[in-house]
Amino acid sequence: MPSTNPPVVPDSAKNVVVIGASRGIGAVVASTFASHGHRVIGTHRGSGTPDGVIGFEFDITDPGAVAGLFSFVGGFGRADVVVVASGITRDSPLVRMSDSDIDEVIATNLVGPMRVVRAAASKIVRGGSIVLVSSVGARLGHVGQANYTASKAGLEGFVRTVAQEFASKFRINIVAPGPTRTDMFLAAGAEARAAMEQGTPMRRVGEPVEIADVVYWVSQSTYMTGATVPVSGGLIV
Ligand SMILES: NC(=O)c1ccc[n+]([C@@H]2O[C@H](COP(=O)([O-])OP(=O)(O)OC[C@H]3O[C@@H](n4cnc5c(N)ncnc54)[C@H](OP(=O)(O)O)[C@@H]3O)[C@@H](O)[C@H]2O)c1
Repeated sequence: MPSTNPPVVPDSAKNVVVIGASRGIGAVVASTFASHGHRVIGTHRGSGTPDGVIGFEFDITDPGAVAGLFSFVGGFGRADVVVVASGITRDSPLVRMSDSDIDEVIATNLVGPMRVVRAAASKIVRGGSIVLVSSVGARLGHVGQANYTASKAGLEGFVRTVAQEFASKFRINIVAPGPTRTDMFLAAGAEARAAMEQGTPMRRVGEPVEIADVVYWVSQSTYMTGATVPVSGGLIV
């Protein structure tokens, strides 16, 4: 469901789609593009999007919803930039991980983004840019997150292939954050949070704006495709 009263943007504005713009990293990504004067269509699941962002209710696990999203975006013209910043965790040791813990994480973090990119491939402008948010866990692994790290590692393999298939049409890259101060990070217990902080060479977690700035920069870069850019306080060097 679209929100009303879209913000006024300059004629030079690009059409930017941000999946998962209701909170956390995606909300700051959406606000960052809006602050640069672009028209931002941000998705949420009922809780709305930041000021200056056109909200669209969307669940990435619903296969039928992707066409509706791009049809809504098409009302403003072709998409120039697509960012997928949605994601979930359902952590537990593997032997206790339920089928739904596995299915929901793979559906949300891997299958959904694949469907979004497949739709975007025919809707994005020539020279457009797609940025997916993965995690350092894809490379490092993380105890209790077998489902999550598998989903993010899958995303990275997917991007390496899509980048080659569509190199002459659009760029597609990944930004891989380390621990970042959002609801997802805060949901980890105090002990786990302290361990993540101490385990990061910079001895602190990232702020959403520090990830959003890199997403913005990656989306603007002109000769990079198929890359994974870690933003992790030194966890990945
Ligand atoms: N925070 C970290 O420490 C960290 C580290 C590495 C990677 N990441 C990655 O960064 C990305 C953003 O995470 P975050 O920390 O900003 O998380 P967050 O604060 O928990 O926000 C998650 C976002 O994803 C959306 N979302 C969840 N399930 C969805 C679905 N089925 N359909 C559409 N949207 C859905 C949420 O929408 P609702 O508001 O409707 O729930 C929300 O906008 C994720 O891909 C995450 O894996 C985060």
